[in-house]
Amino acid sequence: MKRTQILLLTALIGCGASAQTKREVPLYLDPQATVEQRVEDALRHMTTHEKVELLHAQSKFTSAGVPRLGIRQLNMDDGPHGVREELEWNAWSAARWTNDSCVAFPSLTCLAATWNRERAQDYGNAISEEFAYRGKDLLLGPGANIQRTPMNGRAFEYLGEDPRLAAEMVVPYIEGVQANGVGCCMKHFALNNQETDRFTVDVNVSERAMREIYLPAFEAAVKRAGVWSIMGSYNLWLGVHCSHNDSLLNGILKREWGFDGALVSDWDAAVDDWQSATGGLDLEMGTSRNGTLTGNRFTYADYHLARPFERMIREGRLPMSLLDEKARRVLRTIFRTAMNPQKTTGKMCSEDHYRTCREIGEEGIVLLRNERCAAKGRKREMPLLPLTAERLSALALGGGRPRLLIVGENATRSLTKGGGSSELKTRRDVSPLEGLKTVYEDLADIVYAQGYESGQAIYDKVDVVGLERQTKLRQEALEKAKDADLLIFIGGMNKNHRQDCENGDRETYDLSFGQNELIAELARIQPRLIVVTFGGNPYAMPWLEQTAALLHCWYLGSEAGTALANIVSGRMCPSGKLPVTFARRYEDYPYVQYGAAAYPGVDRQVYYKEDIFVGYRHFDTRGVRPLFPFGYGLSYTTFRYGEPSLKTLDDDRWEVCLDVTNTGQREGRETVQLYVGREAGEKSLVERPRKELKDFVKVNLQPGETQRVTLHLSADDLAFWDVESHGWKVERGAYRLYVASSSEDVRGSLVLKRN
Ligand code: BGC
Repeated sequence: MKRTQILLLTALIGCGASAQTKREVPLYLDPQATVEQRVEDALRHMTTHEKVELLHAQSKFTSAGVPRLGIRQLNMDDGPHGVREELEWNAWSAARWTNDSCVAFPSLTCLAATWNRERAQDYGNAISEEFAYRGKDLLLGPGANIQRTPMNGRAFEYLGEDPRLAAEMVVPYIEGVQANGVGCCMKHFALNNQETDRFTVDVNVSERAMREIYLPAFEAAVKRAGVWSIMGSYNLWLGVHCSHNDSLLNGILKREWGFDGALVSDWDAAVDDWQSATGGLDLEMGTSRNGTLTGNRFTYADYHLARPFERMIREGRLPMSLLDEKARRVLRTIFRTAMNPQKTTGKMCSEDHYRTCREIGEEGIVLLRNERCAAKGRKREMPLLPLTAERLSALALGGGRPRLLIVGENATRSLTKGGGSSELKTRRDVSPLEGLKTVYEDLADIVYAQGYESGQAIYDKVDVVGLERQTKLRQEALEKAKDADLLIFIGGMNKNHRQDCENGDRETYDLSFGQNELIAELARIQPRLIVVTFGGNPYAMPWLEQTAALLHCWYLGSEAGTALANIVSGRMCPSGKLPVTFARRYEDYPYVQYGAAAYPGVDRQVYYKEDIFVGYRHFDTRGVRPLFPFGYGLSYTTFRYGEPSLKTLDDDRWEVCLDVTNTGQREGRETVQLYVGREAGEKSLVERPRKELKDFVKVNLQPGETQRVTLHLSADDLAFWDVESHGWKVERGAYRLYVASSSEDVRGSLVLKRN
């Protein structure tokens, strides 16, 4: 039997007699063959033109297969929080299908706030089932750009400010997705850390900051999760757009890290024929040339990786091996996904998807403040949350049913709408107001007041609401507050342009739409005020001391109301921790002192002058006190950390072990964090952060229960990026290992000597 063929014997039955014929199936169609065998065999069957056809879009969200050979096209879709609704073949407008509503999962910032790798795996599994059911092969996500600035309009699609946390969460997400035969197209590679000027800004960053801060999550995705495709970003690095940047893509991603999948351009990120051909791009998507090729006249053959590229190959200006290499990478992606015999059929909007959505939301909500309040019939003051039935009735100081006033637009607003490409059309969403009503309707009189208005979610426009309307809404809320025993304010950010939305950054570190004034005035009337905020970014809280409790929810997706109500009522114990530092003042962020050159850039050049001191690396090392530190989050129970001990496994690997005990009255989860820094007084060749996150473990503990927790450390975790040798370097000497409940709350430490 020829290696490139298998023979299938098919029994034909006819007229009472049976005969056997031979049907030849080429190897590339053989589900038993390996992906590499299939790829090489497919290449052998293809013409030059067919290979080129693989390398560019044939619609807004698909790229061609090889119809003549039965090789399927790639169906792609955003990403990263659910499967986006169907758009028109050739236009950005909605196709208005009736079968494309999905579950909106929580934002990736929320996932990061769970600090739970299993949740990331569950997320990947559930979301990819929805993609598969909708016939999609590539999920445009997850995003893992570092949250360098709280102004970044897309931070909600990413995994926080720390490269280790982002890496640890992105790997299981990708594994969960790809196990179902759906590929991830991880984005946006690289340095896409702001939306202002995202198409044109050239990022100037030190080699060390790039390697230590901005690349590790991508590197982990390639080396540990084996991600199948990566999306190049719009912005420039070293003067070249990242979607066809030779040093970044051929140099680092492919040669150095061994990435074997397809590099997909962001939509309309490829701008040049030669660079598209030679700069490491494999699949060009979304190109539109100054709007001249739109609508019916859109000719995909004019893409850089279409006719122009084919011409360069045919004229011998570029070698055939270059074309083969690109085609090989796209074919690999097709055989891994669209033509993967193991690809799941998937399902949409199943109860277990809603459960996954809710559980991730519950674990990602962060309790930031929970003050003690007086209550009827109680000697001692008690924390306001959880708001159990008993606690609620004790708050009715005037007797009778307690009156609960809920204020704020986000109590009812759909936060799955807006935001840009991650917008979702959902089948059913539970709003916070609905969720809270379900729990408290029988226990309290619930009144709602909108309080403020933010206008429409419009991709690139701001819809300003008139002062008169805002004043009226505020007065209504304040009036109602006078009769309330308890207030829950539900606001924060939303998915409007210049809030948490693609293609524009926030305008201010404060909450918008008059929320600061409204919250302060509400608190003056009724200090029993629980503030609940949604949003992908930190923000200023001038009213914080006036409030009794504060929960930050990121975006919670379809089950927002249920997840929130379960935390507020105490059905679930909060266990989320911040994946990003909340500064007291905007000026405290590390880059701000360097002016506009450091953000958002001057003349399309931005300089990351704070270097590696991003997020807590700055606050912690420089002694700038944040409002809420990285890794911080309260619980309804308490945990005691035992003495940590160090175990040496071999020359390069250690374990830190300790007992953690739940010392409170109820079941709860704690994330134990391991940070590492140079021991005080140790010399170092470079300035290093006081400490950096290297590992974490989340444990679930019953009241009184103790569990032994093990954290892992390797020599690689001690390294810094050495610009002299262009490699990682581990210095000898003493390191301090910190076991901590947040980056500021160190519960124990040890010294490790490295010889
Ligand atoms: C975004 C990508 C997105 C793509 C397709 C681009 O504008 O930057 O994240 O996947 O559009 O919608």
